[in-house]
Amino acid sequence: MSEAITAEQADWVAVGPEAELPEGHQCAVNVQGVSVLVVRYEGQFYALRNNCTHKDYPLLGGEVSQGRITCEKHGAKFELSTGKPRTLPAVKPVRLYQTRTDQGIVYVAPL
Ligand code: FES
Repeated sequence: MSEAITAEQADWVAVGPEAELPEGHQCAVNVQGVSVLVVRYEGQFYALRNNCTHKDYPLLGGEVSQGRITCEKHGAKFELSTGKPRTLPAVKPVRLYQTRTDQGIVYVAPL
C-alpha cells in the first residue's frame, strides 16, 4: 500500500534538480495557478510571485544584484528574501513563497 500524501506535501511543486539550477538561474513555475519566480542567488533559492506589484509586469529575467531583483519595466527593485520593494515606483511587497531541497530536488510552496 502506498503512503498517503499529506496536504502539506501536496502543496510542494518540484522546480528541478538542484544540480541543473546553477548560480544566477531564474525560472518560473506554476504553484496553484500562480506563476512563481525561482532565483538562485549566492547559493540560496528564493521564490517570489512572478508579478511586479507596480504594473504586474513579470519579474522573470530581471537583473539580480545585492539580493534584489529589478523589474525590467520601470526599474523597481524587490528584496529576494522578503519581497519588499526597495525602490519606486513599486510600494507594495511581492508575495513570498518558501523553498526547500529534498534529495537533490528543489521545491516551492506557498508560505
Ligand atoms: S511594472 Fe515593475 S516597476 Fe513598473
